[in-house]
Formats: sequence, C-alpha cells, structure tokens
Amino acid sequence: MLHHISVSSALLDFLEENRILILNSELTKDSSIQIGETISFSKNVELFPYTTFQYGGATLFDMGVYSYSRSCLGGDSGRSNLQNVKIGRYCSIADNVRIFQADHDLQKFSTSTYLYAMPSFRREGYIVKQRTKERSKSIKLSRMSQNTSPPVIIGNDVWIGSHVALRPGIEIGDGACIATGSVVTKNVPPYAVVGGVPAKVIKYRFDKQIVDELLDIKWWNYDFLDFDLSANDRIEVFIEKIKHQIENGRLSHWLPGPITSKHLLEFI
Ligand SMILES: CC(C)(COP(=O)(O)OP(=O)(O)OC[C@H]1O[C@@H](n2cnc3c(N)ncnc32)[C@H](O)[C@@H]1OP(=O)(O)O)[C@@H](O)C(=O)NCCC(=O)NCCS
Repeated sequence: MLHHISVSSALLDFLEENRILILNSELTKDSSIQIGETISFSKNVELFPYTTFQYGGATLFDMGVYSYSRSCLGGDSGRSNLQNVKIGRYCSIADNVRIFQADHDLQKFSTSTYLYAMPSFRREGYIVKQRTKERSKSIKLSRMSQNTSPPVIIGNDVWIGSHVALRPGIEIGDGACIATGSVVTKNVPPYAVVGGVPAKVIKYRFDKQIVDELLDIKWWNYDFLDFDLSANDRIEVFIEKIKHQIENGRLSHWLPGPITSKHLLEFI
C-alpha cells in the first residue's frame, strides 16, 4: 500500500530542513511542490538528505545522498509493486526511465488479464462482471499472484540515460552508465557502460586497475565537498589525492541516517 499525504507548510519545512527537493519536471526556481499537492510513499521508504525527485507527481522512493531522479521509479499507486528500487549515492537518473511492469503468465492459454480474478481493478472487474451477467455464465478465473517483483538495486555513482527500461531484480554496479534507449535485462558490472536492446557492455569507464581502486576506496561514502581536489583532476590524480587524504585521517565517512515513512506520517 502507498501512503498519500497532502503537503502542508509544516511538511514543506521538514523537507526543506532535511534537504529533500521535490520538483516538477521544470528546472526553474519556483518549480517546487506546493501546499495542497500530494506526496506518496511506501511503508518501507528510506529517504536521505540532498536528494531531488524531479518529475510530475511525487511518489518518493529510496535514493541516497546527492542522487536525483527525473523519473518516477516508486511504483504505481494501487499496484502491488510499490517499493521496487533502491538507489545509491551520487546517482543521476534521466527522464523516462521505467522498471518493467508485472509479467503476464505465458503458460496459460492466453496472456489476457481478463483471465485473472481482479474485482478491485475497474477495467477487468467491470468488463467480466457485465459479460458474465449477459451470458449467465462464468468460468473459474485465475488468482493473481500477490508476489511483488524483486527490487532493482542501483549502486553508487550510476548514470542512467533517458528512455531506459530496467528488468525487476537486476543489480547495476557502482559507477555504471546505461546508454539512452537501453533495455537492461541482466546485471550490469561496476563501471561498465552498457547500451542497446538487450543492453550489452559497450566498454568500461576506466581500466581494471583503476576500477579496482575506485571500488576499494568507495569515495561515495564521503562528502565530495571535503575532497581536496578539483573535479577536473585526471582519475589517477583523484585516486592518489583521496588515498592521501584518507591515510592522513583528513576524510571521514558522511553517512546521515534515513528519513522514514514514520517521520513523514507525522505530517498527516
Ligand atoms: C553511452 C553514451 C554516454 C555515449 O558514450 P561515448 O563514450 O560517447 O560512446 P560513443 O558515442 O563513442 O559510442 C561507443 C559505442 O557505443 C554505441 N552506443 C552509443 N550510445 C548507444 C546507445 N544509446 N545504445 C546503444 N549503443 C550505443 C556507439 O554506437 C558505439 O558503438 P561502436 O563502438 O560499435 O561504434 C551516450 O551515447 C548516451 O547514451 N548518453 C546518455 C544521454 C542521456 O540520456 N542523457 C540524459 C541527461 S541526464
């Protein structure tokens, strides 16, 4: 079940204090969510500061510090598949990224959803009820599985281009990039750039030695504003400088705790 709460000025203040931005699809200054609009979230949601949810509608989902999404990956209201993604830190999710919806059963004589007993769904419930009345006849319908799809797990520093579809249950490794228009059906290794339908590895962002060092350092556990470097440093220089800072005790992890549904429900 998704919780829906109407945005009050107290909730706006709470989101602001916790540095959670909920924006419309425009990047203009006054595109923030307004009092009276609705935010939705599941019972298990974990939100973190310095994140941006930027799409029409405001279904929130798990996303780590310094990540933003221009796509709603929080599941459809009324569907079973509610909390279907976990996104790490420093991730960039473009527009029109989707997680596959539920599969239809390929082994029955038809994939039609009219075979399922779903009285609560307006479409199937109405159509089947009308037709069984007209015919004075019904057949035994199939029960719809209540199993939720396994979540998509997205690592840290992942960039997902626009118009990408992700299969439930896949894992996208730290540092990976998904090219625009891809349909990702399998796990993506760390620092791979994958593309196509189905997505295949195009290349890796860095050579193996660099990737191993980055996975060892796990720089995303720090606040990048504490790094004594320039964003333009070559990757080898970046690794040297970070290692040096860590060895000298001049960097410490920055792992703020989550904001949960319990906190948000106080604003009902
Ligand atoms: C993947 C991407 C980053 C390109 O990276 P690049 O290093 O410049 O790669 P190149 O253009 O040199 O292409 C490398 C190979 O990948 C292929 N490729 C590039 N984009 C691809 C895509 N979307 N799907 C499939 N293959 C793709 C190229 O055809 C090329 O293939 P080849 O080696 O057989 O010739 C870019 O194509 C992309 O998809 N960007 C996402 C843009 C976006 O959605 N932005 C949203 C704003 S957040």
